[in-house]
Amino acid sequence: VPSPLSALSLDDLRKRRSEKWLTFPDDVLPLFVAEMDTPLAEPIRAALSTALARGDTGYAHLGQLAEAYTDFSARRYGWSPDPDRIRLVADVMQGIVEVLRAVTAPGDGVVINPPVYPPFFSDLRHADRRLVEVPLIGAGSGEYHLDLEGLERAFAAGAQAYLLCNPHNPTGSVFTRDALLAVAQLAGRYGVRLLVDEIHAPLTYPGVRHVPFLSLLSSATPAQEEAIARAFVLVSASKAWNLAGLKAALLLGGPGADDDLVRIPLDVRFAAGLFGVIASEAALREGEPWLADLLADLDANRALLARLLADKLPEVVYRPPDATFLAWLDCRRLGLGDDPAAAFLERGRVAVNSGHHFGAPGRGFVRFNFATSAQLVTEGVRRMAHALR
Ligand SMILES: Cc1ncc(COP(=O)(O)O)c(C=O)c1O
Repeated sequence: VPSPLSALSLDDLRKRRSEKWLTFPDDVLPLFVAEMDTPLAEPIRAALSTALARGDTGYAHLGQLAEAYTDFSARRYGWSPDPDRIRLVADVMQGIVEVLRAVTAPGDGVVINPPVYPPFFSDLRHADRRLVEVPLIGAGSGEYHLDLEGLERAFAAGAQAYLLCNPHNPTGSVFTRDALLAVAQLAGRYGVRLLVDEIHAPLTYPGVRHVPFLSLLSSATPAQEEAIARAFVLVSASKAWNLAGLKAALLLGGPGADDDLVRIPLDVRFAAGLFGVIASEAALREGEPWLADLLADLDANRALLARLLADKLPEVVYRPPDATFLAWLDCRRLGLGDDPAAAFLERGRVAVNSGHHFGAPGRGFVRFNFATSAQLVTEGVRRMAHALR
């Protein structure tokens, strides 16, 4: 089986110019930002090299990307969104901020579920929205759930919108159909607008089912229907095919969100890159065999990480994620304080994300990106353990 995560040597990777490879000096092993150590999938490489040969470097046009997404979603999740309700945005975070501008006002409360992707805090603050934190409920074993009672309290207290991340970064949780329907019910009761970030959905592991939020419309009760119809969803090929620097994502509006969708200026799409569109279309149309190989590698790595931690750092609590290439490691029993990542970097020369950047519940945690070779996953844990000596 071709192995996307072991195709590149560390020497090759160090020649990269991306955030992952230029942030730290060469004696640091970077396992932080959500990039993957893979070559491009062949169909993407071919599409981009054709575009390069043509000098096709003008402004982005959506082209057939909406249809490519619809077909991908039908094959993968058994549900086809309406391509007429799909808009091109530069990236998921731009899409989130544009939707919040359209459906909320400055000062309005927006609910998020820490520990969660750090730009949810910074970008919402920058957009003058008020953060309303409803932490996930952790079971201690590394398993996390939505706090439905906490959500109801936040909605009842006047929050206007809820930014839900599913699959969830950094915990790797995939929320169930029942949990999502319960969210819709509560949002309907309190008139809260729903934004769902599904960027990690293609990286859901076999045996776990990702439920696209808008697909719930067909099975919703009348009390759940309106909140789903008025929801927005953000998707992208950028995580699963490592295209983040090319800039393209899709904003999906429910059938009750048309009036809001038209209020988002059309030229928002010019922040997207044409190479992002071309690469994403190739990924969604022809990239599933590569994705299957990638998921096999990632599946092996999430299990390898469990074995390595049990052997070298048994105090760390780790539940292999149900989706994503991110491991959320509870390091509180290591005695390294609120920011174990600082010690791992300083003494172990390995860069993982500081958990506290994901909100207060992340204190004492780190996020470990295992989208690399088995060899470098092993080296990463070796360096973390070395930091403790
Ligand atoms: C949950 C989540 N949302 C959004 C993003 C950022 O996506 P984009 O680069 O499309 O803004 C990431 C990146 O890792 C992410 O994990």
